Amino acid sequence: MTRAQEALSEQVTEPPMSGATRLVRACLRKPIDRTPVWFLRQAGRYMAEYQAVRRHHSLVEICKQPRLAAEVTITAAEKLDVDAAIIFADLLLPFECMGLDFEFQAGEGPVIHAPVRTAEGVARLRTDRASELSYVGEAIERVVAHFRDRLGVIGFCGAPFTLASYMIEGGGSRNYVHTKTLMYRQPEAWRSLLEKLAMVLSEFARQQVEAGADVIQIFDSWAGALSVEDYHEFVLPITKSLVRDVQALGVPVIYFGVDTASLLPAMRATGADVLGLDWRTPLGKAWRELDYACAVQGNLDPITLFAGQELIRNRVRHILDQAGGRAGHVFNLGHGIVPETPVENVQAVVKFVREYAVEKQP
Ligand code: CP3
Repeated sequence: MTRAQEALSEQVTEPPMSGATRLVRACLRKPIDRTPVWFLRQAGRYMAEYQAVRRHHSLVEICKQPRLAAEVTITAAEKLDVDAAIIFADLLLPFECMGLDFEFQAGEGPVIHAPVRTAEGVARLRTDRASELSYVGEAIERVVAHFRDRLGVIGFCGAPFTLASYMIEGGGSRNYVHTKTLMYRQPEAWRSLLEKLAMVLSEFARQQVEAGADVIQIFDSWAGALSVEDYHEFVLPITKSLVRDVQALGVPVIYFGVDTASLLPAMRATGADVLGLDWRTPLGKAWRELDYACAVQGNLDPITLFAGQELIRNRVRHILDQAGGRAGHVFNLGHGIVPETPVENVQAVVKFVREYAVEKQP
């Protein structure tokens, strides 16, 4: 039984709640003792411990060695004292088993050597080798064995659109010209590409849940590049079916994108349990406009972490005020922590979220 299934059957909840219970119940909009908190990119270059590991190993090496991936995941979560650990991995890992080589070039981000831009290119992509991703599940098993239910463990994968955009553009993009050209002009190839991705991703998510992940976050980081019409026509159906496949494994799904203010109702239509909000969207307004029909995660501007702690405290309170103590809020940033962020300010956010709960106690 997954922890989400336990929470639904109302077995747990002897106070104080464990981090895992707190996270899962918040995702399911069940009452909790206080708002759970974790951070996008909580293990990364801003942390000296990560840099020390990174000096001896590439990013992909860390991901592929379960001992290292687990160590990086655990160290960050313990240092920050958060309620959840997100497994250290990367969105692009499934590309390799689909037959696409990529590398991370310093300062450039990911580079895919032979971008997929034709129907033949799509036809060549493999979907039968997702078992090669088992190193991620092995890392999750180690993290779960370490934390037991002290912390929630979050597995993740990319969403079909965002991964397709990397495959087609060959890296990051400003205007998504190649992606949208294929989408508009070769809708059959587009559909086939997204279906192949969804097939591999749902298998990848299954491995992560079987390894003990409590929640799966689906990153549609670049969905904000789409108009509402294009999202509905070209992206929503397959994303919805991926969300449903993952939920059928017995875990809640967090669906996250950036620059999504106008897309939120469409993203809600995927049926995801939680929508991750970017920081440009006021949380109270966004949640109200969603009719509180799902949980929300977010949404402090990650660059606020460069401010002084008084201002940070005010911003944290403002977000918690907007959530208004309603069941179904997971505190997070509105996008990932950037390099050079002062670690002590990230730790301060955790403290402010806890203090707020104490102040508000009746
Ligand atoms: O702590 C965590 O959040 C878990 C680890 C994690 C990484 N990537 C490790 C990583 C997660 C959740 C991701 C997801 C990811 N990867 C996303 C979606 C999240 C988002 O930001 O919206 C995306 C778009 C990717 C693809 C990717 N990986 C890019 C664009 C880059 C380069 C970015 C940069 O700042 O250079 C990466 C590299 C990457 N993945 C790093 C980390 C910690 C950078 C650090 C390094 O090179 O060691």
